Amino acid sequence: MTTTTFCTSRDQIAGLGVSELAARFGTPLYVYDIETMYQRVSELSSFDVIRYAQKACSNLAILDRLRRRGVVVDAVSAGEIRRALAAGFGADPSRHEIVYTADIFDVESLELVCKHALQVNCGSPDMITQLGEVRPGADVTLRINPGFGHGHSQKTNTGGEQSKHGIWHSQIDECLRRADQTGITVTGLHMHIGSGTDLEHLSEVCEAMERAALEVGRTLKTISAGGGLPVPYKSDESYVDLERYFELWDASRNRLSERFGHRLNLEIEPGRFLAAESGHLIAEVRSVKRMGDNLFVLVDAGFNDLARPVMYGAYHPISVAGCGGSAADRESVDVVVGGPLCESGDIFTQREGGYVDTRHLPAPRVGDFLVLENAGAYGFVMSSNYNSKQRAAEVMIEDGEAKLIRERETFDDLVRGEHIPD
Ligand code: LLP
Repeated sequence: MTTTTFCTSRDQIAGLGVSELAARFGTPLYVYDIETMYQRVSELSSFDVIRYAQKACSNLAILDRLRRRGVVVDAVSAGEIRRALAAGFGADPSRHEIVYTADIFDVESLELVCKHALQVNCGSPDMITQLGEVRPGADVTLRINPGFGHGHSQKTNTGGEQSKHGIWHSQIDECLRRADQTGITVTGLHMHIGSGTDLEHLSEVCEAMERAALEVGRTLKTISAGGGLPVPYKSDESYVDLERYFELWDASRNRLSERFGHRLNLEIEPGRFLAAESGHLIAEVRSVKRMGDNLFVLVDAGFNDLARPVMYGAYHPISVAGCGGSAADRESVDVVVGGPLCESGDIFTQREGGYVDTRHLPAPRVGDFLVLENAGAYGFVMSSNYNSKQRAAEVMIEDGEAKLIRERETFDDLVRGEHIPD
């Protein structure tokens, strides 16, 4: 079991100075170390296909670089389909470089799926019928809800009766009948039970997949283990034993392949695992103030930039980059870290339910930078313009060089499309 140690002081990201990055690109700033993503890709290479769940971090440059490493993508909306196309995926539809996974079609996504002959992973029986009306004879994948799920938060659990996701496991037969009506063939099965889960829950999926696959039968060519692989956010957390995880899935795949008389492809669909640890959010300390017993450190990034703490009580490691010298020798103090938004919930150190926690950090001073770590997955992509904040810039570090991959939003971006009628 691998555990990780997080330091509370850091001056560099992938060899480049935090203060220099902040001076050059401004703050708040997302910085991704692309090498970390490549490392994670290589750790999953036993799977036949790595399908990146781009919802975790969908900047075009990141998508492009992953594509060049042989990774394909999942798209959950028309916008994500367009991003994938813009990043060069989809040239050869037979490779299923883009799979549209959702529980509904909206008008635009159905149009795009047809126009580019994309594979669809149907999360509702209605999708089968709707696709059949416009693309009779298509191949589809079914996303099955196996009746159980698990995530780091109830909000990221995507299985069981309380989840809106997927086709209920006992409805497979009905779906096959629906598919028959328009000549649709079910060539793939997919199960994703939640995000940030653990090996115990993940491994239950293999058995459920085998049962479902036997119901569908030999038209199947692909099974997908979904995403959900956790990454450590705290020092006492660890990675899933990937070898063991692969072995479990490989054994299921082999049993099914033998039964069907042809080899099934085994896919994995990670988002967090590929993106989380590559990303860092740099924010500048703008005020250090005492409120009774609590010392508040207020930075220029808020939940408009990184929503995970306010949304799930998610823990992100935080480190201090001292302005004008390392913070490593400073005495450590307990602080509450908050942002600039006009809302009391704008706190990065909170537990689920909104309870404020403290963090033991080398005493931060105004002008220092805080680095919110492991922010690459569900960080920038969940950012918003709340309080009329402009979204942060994004930078990718590649070959030791910092490259701007998204400009900081401007005021014009903020009000684009707004009209004041006469
Ligand atoms: N596949 C499907 C169909 C999914 O719905 C998801 C995540 C993934 C793959 C990737 O899951 P991952 O490998 O990243 O666990 N905003 C939340 C996470 C929501 C995940 C939604 N679906 C968070 O910040 O924790």
